[in-house]
Amino acid sequence: MPARINPSILAADFVNMERDLDRIASADLVHVDVMDNHFVPNLTFGPQMVGRIQDVSKIPLDVHLMIDDPDHWGLQYAELGAYSVTFHAEAAADPIRLARRLRAIGARAGIALKPGTPADGYLDLLEEFDQVLVMTVEPGFGGQSFMAETMPKLASLRQAVTARGLDVWLQVDGGITEETIVTAAENGADTFVAGSAVFRAENTAEQISLLRETAARHLHQAATS
Ligand code: DX5
Ligand code: ZN
Repeated sequence: MPARINPSILAADFVNMERDLDRIASADLVHVDVMDNHFVPNLTFGPQMVGRIQDVSKIPLDVHLMIDDPDHWGLQYAELGAYSVTFHAEAAADPIRLARRLRAIGARAGIALKPGTPADGYLDLLEEFDQVLVMTVEPGFGGQSFMAETMPKLASLRQAVTARGLDVWLQVDGGITEETIVTAAENGADTFVAGSAVFRAENTAEQISLLRETAARHLHQAATS
């Protein structure tokens, strides 16, 4: 199984979005950070913008909802055709019901955990999700430093996914670089979000390949079988 690289367009130029989407066309998915200035202290864009991104992107959308009440506001992202919709465990009133509704619309359903949120309560519910996002920074802003203390949580998720033979992607998001991607891969991630590390590079396609190959060399053995 290859390592997936999902560049975060939070680090793109918002007035040249179509150009920047073309710069990452060789990536696996485009990571779209939706922020509402309530769940996190930052504001990005909503369904209208995400719908246009869906229209012009050459690769599928990996929507990361950092919003309150995703039970209500989250479904429209699946309806507009996003490949994957991930909501926060801390924000959802009924995560299982929401995941089932997202899947019924046709999207992959993901659940995100802030650095301080344990995975324990979700280990028995992994069948309900297509992806678990382990936040490796506090959500809200790009360009922060990777929090290595989140790695035991990632490793426990990898162990549970592998032990039960599940096909649940384990995603990391925040502070992913050529160095930290090694740690995240070794601890069981297979899907890597990178904002600054991709968009700061002069040649984004080369940088995406470099990140993908670096991660692939260090993928947890269990994730490669
Ligand atoms: C942070 C966002 C991330 C962010 C990552 O809340 O969820 O997707 O764009 O940015 P970098 O890779 O710069 O840490
Ligand atoms: Zn994100």
